[in-house]
Amino acid sequence: NRVLVLHGPNLNLLGKREPEVYGTTTLENINDMLKGRAVDLGLELVFIQSNYEGKLIDAIQQAPGNYACIIINPAAFTHYSIAVRDALAAVNVPAIEVHLSNIYRREEFRHHSVISPIAIGQIAGFGANSYLLALEAAANLIESTNL
Ligand code: DQA
Repeated sequence: NRVLVLHGPNLNLLGKREPEVYGTTTLENINDMLKGRAVDLGLELVFIQSNYEGKLIDAIQQAPGNYACIIINPAAFTHYSIAVRDALAAVNVPAIEVHLSNIYRREEFRHHSVISPIAIGQIAGFGANSYLLALEAAANLIESTNL
């Protein structure tokens, strides 16, 4: 089973970007952590980070038939990209939304996600561990749909 892990804009800067909010773990660290856990879970992961909305949308459109699940941290697109939301809604691949920070205890403009109504669920606030929790959720989801 393959899972697509999508990282949105500015997440390539993790580690040096506002470390008091996002921690000091780099994106590479996060991807390595996920890869390690994926082996135990019997999942194959493909990672894409992009600062471009269209690149994320292209990846989502190509997901059907290739991936059992999408784990996505849409970053700032979370709050306003109807295009990313529509792409996720258009494909019949379940999506799990991830955030490092707890967006609900931050600035008001981060309190609303246009993605969550079409996601299976959202995990936010656990730092890099949010991604690991999302991977566990993906494994459970895939297992329950393959029964
Ligand atoms: C984020 C939260 C977003 O509000 C922000 O724009 C990001 C990262 C997070 O992982 O906490 O870039 O998605």
